[in-house]
Amino acid sequence: MNLSIRPRRNRRSSAIRSMVRETVLTPGDLILPVFLHEDEEDTPLSSMPGCTRWSIPGLVKEAGEALAAGVPGVVLFPKIEESLKSSHGEESYREDGLVPRAIRALKEAYPKLCVITDVALDPYSSDGHDGVVRRDKNGELEILNDETVEILCKQALCHARAGADIVSPSDMMDGRVAAIRAVLDAEGFTDVLIMSYTAKYASSFYGPFRGALDSQPKEGDKKTYQMDPGNIREAMRETLLDEAEGADVLMVKPAGPYLDVISKVRENSTLPVAAYQVSGEYLMLKSASAAGWLDEKGIVLESLMGIKRAGADMILTYFAKHAAKWLAEKS
Ligand code: PBG
Repeated sequence: MNLSIRPRRNRRSSAIRSMVRETVLTPGDLILPVFLHEDEEDTPLSSMPGCTRWSIPGLVKEAGEALAAGVPGVVLFPKIEESLKSSHGEESYREDGLVPRAIRALKEAYPKLCVITDVALDPYSSDGHDGVVRRDKNGELEILNDETVEILCKQALCHARAGADIVSPSDMMDGRVAAIRAVLDAEGFTDVLIMSYTAKYASSFYGPFRGALDSQPKEGDKKTYQMDPGNIREAMRETLLDEAEGADVLMVKPAGPYLDVISKVRENSTLPVAAYQVSGEYLMLKSASAAGWLDEKGIVLESLMGIKRAGADMILTYFAKHAAKWLAEKS
């Protein structure tokens, strides 16, 4: 054939492919979500093979291994004992609670580790919702926005006081970013970042996570606060608001089924964008590879690359530690 343009020339060798590569995934892009509990044992989770609910010492060891592999940050998800849960989640801002103690232990062991905390009521709520629940006159559940935001502010402040580098509100209440920023600033925590769950969808992919923390809603669903999977303009509305309210990082969640949303948020904001490859996405990849149907390393790195190529600067993934090691082997 008489072709003057042959795109295959740019794929000829590994050296050329390396020079023309547009998106590069590195361990520094990854954040490891970790589960923790009050027990002294580390409990492997049968519902999420490969994940563990850690004791504080176990968590410190795991975070150290992730950091050594090049993963710069972890985000903490506590399982709270049923007896400590309440309608207003007071346990969420107790100075000596599980999360503040874990933050202190992690920062003491690894001052350079970026410790991120989830801000929401669900692990602490006797109703299993991200906010305070009231029953309206028709018997329907209502999740109270403004009352919840007051509690989230106390929770974020408690985490900042314990040494958290980033607080990450995952509750989807209106106005919480501005309210948290104001409280942190008033208390002198102007350096603590807010990574806001900007576009968090009401997703069936969160099921295994709720099982791991025993944090399922006791009644109803989360559709009055998490977003409808059909909506993308609404994600822009949340982006504009979070930016105006002072968020430092915007997050899209889940990641894989919402690549268009990641890309649109990326195009419409100058802020860094995070994406969360959630528990259900983890299990899809894990179960297919455990069955021997797909190659784990290949599909995990490719799924993360796809999320980064869509526009994510950082990715929360349960594969973070292993993916970081695989990336090191590759280079
Ligand atoms: C709770 C929270 C959830 C996840 C992160 N923070 C669950 C939910 O909103 O019900 C899900 C993470 C995952 O599925 O991996 N605020």
